[in-house]
Amino acid sequence: MAGNMMETHDAEQISLFDRSSSSSVLHASLSTEPPSIVRAEGHYLHTSTRTAIYDTLNGAAVSCIGDNHPRVKRAMQQQLNAVEYCFAPHFTTPAYEKLARFLVDSTNRQLQKVFVTGSGSEAIEATIKMARQFMTRDRSYYGNTLGALDILGYEAWRTIYKPLLSGYMSHVSPCYPYHDLRQGESTQAYVERLAQELEDEFQRVSPRTLGRMTEVYERRGALFILDGVFAGMGRTGSLHAWEGVVPDLQTVAKGLGAGYAPVGALMVGKKIVDVLDRGTKAFVHFQTYDGHPLACAAVYEVQQVIHDEGLVENCGKMGDYLGERLRAQLGTHPNVGDLRGRGLAWASELVKDRNTKEPFPVKQKVAPTIHAAGLQKFEIVLLPGGGVVDGVNGDLVVLAPAYDINREEVDLVVQRTATAIDCVLGPTTGVVRL
Ligand SMILES: Cc1ncc(COP(=O)(O)O)c(C=O)c1O
Repeated sequence: MAGNMMETHDAEQISLFDRSSSSSVLHASLSTEPPSIVRAEGHYLHTSTRTAIYDTLNGAAVSCIGDNHPRVKRAMQQQLNAVEYCFAPHFTTPAYEKLARFLVDSTNRQLQKVFVTGSGSEAIEATIKMARQFMTRDRSYYGNTLGALDILGYEAWRTIYKPLLSGYMSHVSPCYPYHDLRQGESTQAYVERLAQELEDEFQRVSPRTLGRMTEVYERRGALFILDGVFAGMGRTGSLHAWEGVVPDLQTVAKGLGAGYAPVGALMVGKKIVDVLDRGTKAFVHFQTYDGHPLACAAVYEVQQVIHDEGLVENCGKMGDYLGERLRAQLGTHPNVGDLRGRGLAWASELVKDRNTKEPFPVKQKVAPTIHAAGLQKFEIVLLPGGGVVDGVNGDLVVLAPAYDINREEVDLVVQRTATAIDCVLGPTTGVVRL
């Protein structure tokens, strides 16, 4: 990609795909007709108009071993020849058993049972039913079903569905030092302040029942739940991203099946298995596609590929390099307030003013326009994030490339990302060119 895109492309030509649509699909916007992908190979998406787009996001942090992997396709074909579907409450399959054993072993048996679902949100739903009462982090995302909306911390996502939500949840602050670390406050003091907030919130919502955070959970008799849908299964450079502490419940999805099947899972710790065992001996919850054999076979093979190709280590190594390159390329950009990430999950927080950290107003659609610029002009997929500052305002551009990315591709990703940001915000002046 040429480095002088700025001269040849004008930000004003970028459309947010607002043109009339003849499609029968209910797309995200009724006036949207997104590019049509006719083939996916490696890390490239090929459109019907013969453009090859580099997918820095592998869908939505999903296709982490690249598209069209022969080993996974073979495993799925074999599973199709054996049994393509059966109903999990009535039957089990070798594919489900093998996958569950693999996942349990991957935690050194610290988590003991696995419940395979059709998506991350479904895994969250199952978790909600297990735990019943929730306290989550403000400005956190857990999926888009009503249950997930009930516990998530982005007001903008919840507003129109509020009458349908239970309200049985409360929020504490996210871990967000870029905005929330006070002047002169040490990291340790900041962590203490968050722990105290958690303690106070337990006191407020349920004075009777309910690192530092896990101490509070334990003392209060609460379940410690980690949502590893995005961060889990290797992306951060360790398989579960929680090694060192052990959750009672953990959800995984996305990199679990790498896009070869729609799949998620809830992993359950001993404390809960024992309670179920002593009580009803049943988990009163099911959906038609739980434990889908084809999904289980795909996931098992995906995880073998990740292991055999050393991809978790590559996430750590290439993640460090990606962070280094992003800092070099965007670290002094007037509208890039913060660059943060771990492993192969990185975000640039875009601000109107680096000194005050003031976000762009949501109506300026900064992140969505950068996403559109990436797609329309620079052949790259960038994930636009919103609402990080107050639930409504606050733009992010997120990168979550495939686990098998190499240094040349990291260079290409950073170059194209910076070019898309420059195209929309201007390279050094901070003048918004929307
Ligand atoms: C942290 C987190 N939890 C849950 C979900 C929901 O997963 P799904 O979209 O597969 O339902 C997502 C999806 O982006 C996520 O990032």
